[in-house]
Amino acid sequence: MVIGVSTANRALSDFWTYFADTGCGEYSPLYDRICRTVAESDDVLDLVREAPPRGHQPNVLLGAVHYLLLAGLDHPLGAVYAGESDADPGALFVDATLTHRDEILHLLATRHTNTNEVGRSAVIGPALTEVAAHLGAPLALVDVGCSAGLNLLCDRYRLDYGPSGATGPIDAAVRVECSVVGGRPPIASTLPRIAARVGIDRDPIDITDEVEATWLLACVWPDTGRLPRTRRALDAARLTPRTLVRGDAVEAVAETVLALPAETIAVVTTTWMLAYLAVEARVAFREALAAASMERPIAWVSAEGPGVVDLFSGIDAYIGPHGMEASVLGLVTFRGGEAEQQLLGFVHPHGAWIDWRS
Ligand SMILES: C[S@@+](CC[C@H](N)C(=O)[O-])C[C@H]1O[C@@H](n2cnc3c(N)ncnc32)[C@H](O)[C@@H]1O
Repeated sequence: MVIGVSTANRALSDFWTYFADTGCGEYSPLYDRICRTVAESDDVLDLVREAPPRGHQPNVLLGAVHYLLLAGLDHPLGAVYAGESDADPGALFVDATLTHRDEILHLLATRHTNTNEVGRSAVIGPALTEVAAHLGAPLALVDVGCSAGLNLLCDRYRLDYGPSGATGPIDAAVRVECSVVGGRPPIASTLPRIAARVGIDRDPIDITDEVEATWLLACVWPDTGRLPRTRRALDAARLTPRTLVRGDAVEAVAETVLALPAETIAVVTTTWMLAYLAVEARVAFREALAAASMERPIAWVSAEGPGVVDLFSGIDAYIGPHGMEASVLGLVTFRGGEAEQQLLGFVHPHGAWIDWRS
């Protein structure tokens, strides 16, 4: 706990410290330093508390400041983000936030975390191979909470697992590296054929709109090497048809799944989405899938924080490589209203590593 902040800011300060402890660390020293500085800054925490609750999430302020820089703000923090300056990012972040208070407050009030992390394709890939081994192919993907739908194109990316193998086109423009830190995930040279791709999001990102695409890039952490591949994924996605539906996860999922081509295997994916739903809505989402499975089998691949998918609760938090809290990769197969769950493994939240347990 940070002792110096006002009582009103204590809880928020603890949240930023927790975020640094479990989400940044060695993986993002830049954001680790910034989050710990924010946790000690009453001025920044006061500003954050002026925003609606969803703007209190560290990723939203981190994205807002990054957005201003990507949109052309001339501030010394830009050189730090570009890896061209060793100045203290914490002090500069505080300065950028407080000197652009109105723009920041506007972003905190109007934006939320829309990260679309293509690194997650590296953990979805083996899960899809596992699904096809049990249920067959071609697959029809419904990515719920899809943001811009970049992970609907997981079969177009080169997923490189080092000595454990690689999946996807060798000349792919988008390359994702993922270390296998445990077990033997099914790494096939190509993913099962994907015959349909549909994304659902309450706020899908229109990547043909420059402001929207800039916000998507702003949600990427600058020092993790992921920005160039996200830009390449955006370029690839602009050329590839995907259907993105604006809608709520619980309300839209069954109808969307039941509209998939009959000869396909329906696969629903949720990656770091369910946590944004209230606990009752998470249950309603699972029940919607179970009800829809009265009409066709459905495989649900989830990669979410520990305890977020109730069928995989009771798993202790596990701190993996880079000091990051592992997320849970799970597969639930619904048939005739019944659910059968299978723990596939643990994964880094941005797909940097996978620990396969199935
Ligand atoms: C952290 S982003 C993850 C995006 C993507 N799944 C990925 O892994 O790259 C969470 C996404 O879930 C969406 N979302 C949050 N609540 C939702 C809801 N109730 N219904 C549909 N989408 C939702 C957000 O708009 C956002 O795009």
